[in-house]
Amino acid sequence: MKSIFLTQINNCRWLAACLLPALLASQALVGAEIPELLTCADGTKVTTSGQWEAQRRGEVLELFRAHVFGRNPVDRPADLKFERVVPDAEMLDGKAIRKQIKASFSGPGGQHSFVFTAFIPKSSKPVPAFLLICNRGYENIDPDRVEKSSFWPVEQIVERGYAALAFRNAELDPDHHDGWTNGVHQIFQPDPKLRTSDSWGTLAAWAWGASRVMDWIESEPLINAGRVGVLGHSRGGKTALWCGAQDNRFALTISNNSGCGGAKLNRMELPKSEPIARINKNFPHWFCERFKEYSANENALPVDQHMLIALLAPRLAYVASATGDDWAGQPGEFQSCVLAAPAWGLYGLKGLGTTAFPAPDTPIHSGYIGYHLRSGKHNLTEYDWKCYMDFADKHWR
Ligand code: GCU
Repeated sequence: MKSIFLTQINNCRWLAACLLPALLASQALVGAEIPELLTCADGTKVTTSGQWEAQRRGEVLELFRAHVFGRNPVDRPADLKFERVVPDAEMLDGKAIRKQIKASFSGPGGQHSFVFTAFIPKSSKPVPAFLLICNRGYENIDPDRVEKSSFWPVEQIVERGYAALAFRNAELDPDHHDGWTNGVHQIFQPDPKLRTSDSWGTLAAWAWGASRVMDWIESEPLINAGRVGVLGHSRGGKTALWCGAQDNRFALTISNNSGCGGAKLNRMELPKSEPIARINKNFPHWFCERFKEYSANENALPVDQHMLIALLAPRLAYVASATGDDWAGQPGEFQSCVLAAPAWGLYGLKGLGTTAFPAPDTPIHSGYIGYHLRSGKHNLTEYDWKCYMDFADKHWR
């Protein structure tokens, strides 16, 4: 266990740049013990990528399943099938092909389906792609491009040579605490009474949906399945991290303003940020039942969120914060990246490449973990998308 306070006082630039006076005064921070990323349950210290993959990575993944997000009852359903909702269409002045696909499957509770859209730029070779887990209304992912939202700026994404894919989270599971009687929870575990403390929550169901879109991408010759980024904003960002952690087919995972339960370090108690007690009270369906044991009890949690980011190594990871988003705990989102970086070090790769909290609008893109602090409010904007594409260009082009 390492004291985050010591980590920080060893880093004057970080302190100077970001610590709010209230943060320094926080006794909770001073005492916080951060679970060690690279120490196995049996005390073995991890010093190689081989050890990480053979032992520690699986342990960490299991801790997140058992204590935070819950366990998926099924991976890819045997009868998963994809069909076109409408014929493929040329869009964006002929620059892209639009595909609208319905994914259908069944489980003991019956049949279910959800729809996703893909805009694929015309190209002589398979293109890289971004998949957005959309937690906002349909108008943000308009397949007809009548409504154009910065949440999913298809025109800009296609212009830069990336395919843009999106689906609506609520089609997998409505975003309500409704007793697990609908969505994919009901399909795969029809009797809610049989749920256990580690049964999957709603964020896990959405993440599972993103993996089903990846199943389709793997069958789509126009997309390079080895270069796909999954991203989400806020609750969608928490979901993207859990998706990328479990599904290593995603070469890049992006958390936009994900905050508590996402990129923000739980033990960094920032006065204005969301604590576990609040998220469990307001959104009791997001995590597994056992996560409630950690309400106002952060220090008992056997993981912290830097370990979730570390599960993405050695693939690409990106975390973004916004200056006006104290609720997401920006310094805590950044600090998770700092503490996750040693996982990339095991592979001889640069993680974040710095421990200094950056000034607004100065993205850190030098390693395998990207980070930026955007000026402005809690949102997913064209600026954020530009940063994600710049980062992907740097690694993939
Ligand atoms: C609430 C919630 C956050 C979440 C956000 C969102 O503010 O407390 O945890 O990230 O909604 O999804 O927009």
